[in-house]
Amino acid sequence: MRIVQSVDEMHDLALSWRRQGREVGFVPTMGYLHRGHTTLIELMRARSEVLVVSIYVNPLQFGPTEDLTRYPRDPEGDAAKCAAAGCDVLFMPNNLYPSDFRTTVSVRDITTRWEGAHRPTHFDGVATVVCRLFGLVQPTAAMFGEKDYQQYTVLRSMARDLAMGIEIVPGPLVRDEDGLALSSRNVYLSPDQRRRALSLHRALFQMRAMTDRSAAVRIAAGLEAIDSDGVDYLAIVDPDSLEPVDIIDRPLRAILVARYGSVRLLDNVAIG
Ligand code: PAJ
Repeated sequence: MRIVQSVDEMHDLALSWRRQGREVGFVPTMGYLHRGHTTLIELMRARSEVLVVSIYVNPLQFGPTEDLTRYPRDPEGDAAKCAAAGCDVLFMPNNLYPSDFRTTVSVRDITTRWEGAHRPTHFDGVATVVCRLFGLVQPTAAMFGEKDYQQYTVLRSMARDLAMGIEIVPGPLVRDEDGLALSSRNVYLSPDQRRRALSLHRALFQMRAMTDRSAAVRIAAGLEAIDSDGVDYLAIVDPDSLEPVDIIDRPLRAILVARYGSVRLLDNVAIG
């Protein structure tokens, strides 16, 4: 595995692959890798000639009250995990943006609800960094986890709207043995918070198992089953537009964010 830290070196490599007509798979991350990330890397490995993983904690997607410096980091451990998962090039730039960077990529409508309502500048930051990474890596396909379901739909819209010619592939949500959705934020949970957080996936799977066609009835049951310090949202939405629905009569998505102290945990399931 080759580790690349320079933006110019990454771009030159990508352009040479492109001239050779190589199928380049890409998995962007912010590091501190867990089995959710490595599952995506292994899945992309199986369908790519060249596999690139990036690690970059992107300042643009953190809000003013969210602590970027507190984001957990483990560059050496991450490099070992990437190598073991079959990564060819690990792109870990120290600095991704030129000092006179002027562009913002903004996806409308589906970014205003849910995570967007709680983190108003977040998706602009995500779309902008992913767009720049796509330019540098020139992938033919990129994988994003369904763990961040809204992020996946936003980036799929961006790639389609801007005719980027990059296939956006969804990766399965990976859970811990006890069902908790794996997340870099789980390290911040106390043992008691972590135990209570098991109610999140249980509530979602309970909602999924119900036969009632009313979204309101299933959401009420879900809220009843959740033990948290506050639910930011629990909704049943169209899987593409992310608009809430009333009646469960086709494949939809139940999406959830709950708080434990200052930690926000995301989870979701396919429903209907
Ligand atoms: P990060 O949170 O590091 O996640 C990187 C990728 O791993 C994302 O596609 C995310 O959805 C996926 N992922 C995280 N936990 C997962 C789990 N439990 N199961 C499956 N996939 C999981 O998401 C980001 O970084 C950033 O916003 C990024 C896209 C890299 C842009 O900065």
